[in-house]
Amino acid sequence: MRSFPSSRMRRLRAKDFSRRLARENTLTTADLIYPIFVLPGENQREAVESMPGVERLSVDLLLEAAEHWVALGIPMLALFPVTPLELKSEMAEEAYNPNGLAQVAVRALKAKFPQLGIMTDVALDPFTTHGQDGIIDDNGYVMNDVTKEILVKQALSHAEAGADVVAPSDMMDGRIGAIREALEAHDFINTIIMAYSAKYASAFYGPFRDAVGSSGNLGKSSKETYQMDPANSNEALHEVELDISEGADMVMVKPGMPYLDVLWRVKQTFGVPTYAYQVSGEYAMQKAASQNGWIDGEKVMMESLLAFKRAGADGILTYFAVDAARLLKNSTL
Ligand code: PBG
Repeated sequence: MRSFPSSRMRRLRAKDFSRRLARENTLTTADLIYPIFVLPGENQREAVESMPGVERLSVDLLLEAAEHWVALGIPMLALFPVTPLELKSEMAEEAYNPNGLAQVAVRALKAKFPQLGIMTDVALDPFTTHGQDGIIDDNGYVMNDVTKEILVKQALSHAEAGADVVAPSDMMDGRIGAIREALEAHDFINTIIMAYSAKYASAFYGPFRDAVGSSGNLGKSSKETYQMDPANSNEALHEVELDISEGADMVMVKPGMPYLDVLWRVKQTFGVPTYAYQVSGEYAMQKAASQNGWIDGEKVMMESLLAFKRAGADGILTYFAVDAARLLKNSTL
């Protein structure tokens, strides 16, 4: 490499045209997956207090709002149902109810917007009385293989409803293989599995648990016996490797910004379609600082999303999806 003064790094930065020509990464609307909280009933709309700008919507209102999202070009929604207390149980039967909220929402969205990708969350936490992602034994320990069988039923019910992508976020061992086998056996050969492969036991999920109403049930108990230790990164590669070998089409790292190093390693090592989840706590922090006037909210949002692209993400699950898509529509890249 040449050195100063023959090489002046600032030369290409001097004008807008050359900054654009030299730009290595870009964020586009095709990178955005929008997570949605779904309410039972009709004409229901609730703000999520800890996530300013995010609302829970009943299916009818969701269908209306989705017109805007489709018009903006957002490729996929990720659905998270809010389950009323009376439908929660020890064995999470509601998770695979063909007429459950997630299943109903999938059918309605696919009927109205056949081109829009619909992804569902495969995990039992919205449906268990204790808020854990699986079935617990007498000591409160989440039982892997019992849970796995129910996750298979849940994933199948989502595929039957028409989900394009099922996304196991539960971190049970062997669930990707079991779900893939069941999908194949039932002729859902093109149902995509996005595995929450490297999902950490993170405090950044707090606002999400408020949004789906599982934090009250979970109380002070943690998910450390199945979600990953934030101290680890080699282990993430092991998790991703297993999920790919079991049949995952897409893998995910979660949370997002605090784990960009993990995202980078996963993408560099495997080169498969790799996604990042900019989670509720990350969203809440940016919103809070922006509302206080401490940061420029729009700029920080776009910078944070671009950072995922730089670290190797093929796409980002983000509560900013609609805001970012609006900005991208009006900008010349
Ligand atoms: C449920 C699930 C969680 C998130 C996505 N799916 C919460 C958890 O594991 O406790 C978190 C998303 C977010 O914080 O935005 N299995």
